[in-house]
Amino acid sequence: MTATLTINGESYDTDAPADTPLLWVLRDEFGLTGTKFGCGVAACGACTVHIDGEAVRSCQVALGDVWGEVLTIEGLGSPGALHAVQAAWVHHQVAQCGYCQPGQIMQAAALLADNPAPSDAEIDDWMAGNLCRCGAYSRIRLAIHDAAGRLSEGA
Ligand code: FES
Ligand code: FES
Repeated sequence: MTATLTINGESYDTDAPADTPLLWVLRDEFGLTGTKFGCGVAACGACTVHIDGEAVRSCQVALGDVWGEVLTIEGLGSPGALHAVQAAWVHHQVAQCGYCQPGQIMQAAALLADNPAPSDAEIDDWMAGNLCRCGAYSRIRLAIHDAAGRLSEGA
C-alpha cells in the first residue's frame, strides 16, 4: 500500500512496508541522506528528525506510525538562509568529523523552539541523548547559546 509523507514541505510517496523505520525510508527511498544511522536502537541521536516539531529518533518510528509533517536537516534551512542553529554551528565550527551533527542540530532546533533561552544544565539535559564520538560537546553548548541569541534578535 502506498504511503504519502510530507517531508520538508514536499509530498513523497513510498510503497515500503509500514514497519520500515522512517530513517531508512528517508535515506533509501527518498535520498535524504543528511539523516544518519548510528546505532538503530535509540541510543545515539544521529537519526534525529522532527515530526510536527517534535524531535524524534527516526530509527524508532515506523513508516506506518508517522503522525505528521517530517522535517529533516535538508529542510531546516537553505544555503542562502541558514537556520539560526546552523549559522551558529558554522560560526563556532562545531563539527569535527560531522557524522553526528545533523542529529545534534535537529535536537538543538527543537530545544530552542520550546525554550528560547536554555541554561547550560537544560542544554546538557536535552542534548544528553545525542552522542558525539569526537567530543564536540563544549562547542555544541556554545553554539546553542549563540543560536538562542540569534533567534531572539529575529535571525
Ligand atoms: S540511529 Fe537512531 S538513535 Fe542511533
Ligand atoms: S563531530 Fe564526529 S561524532 Fe560528532
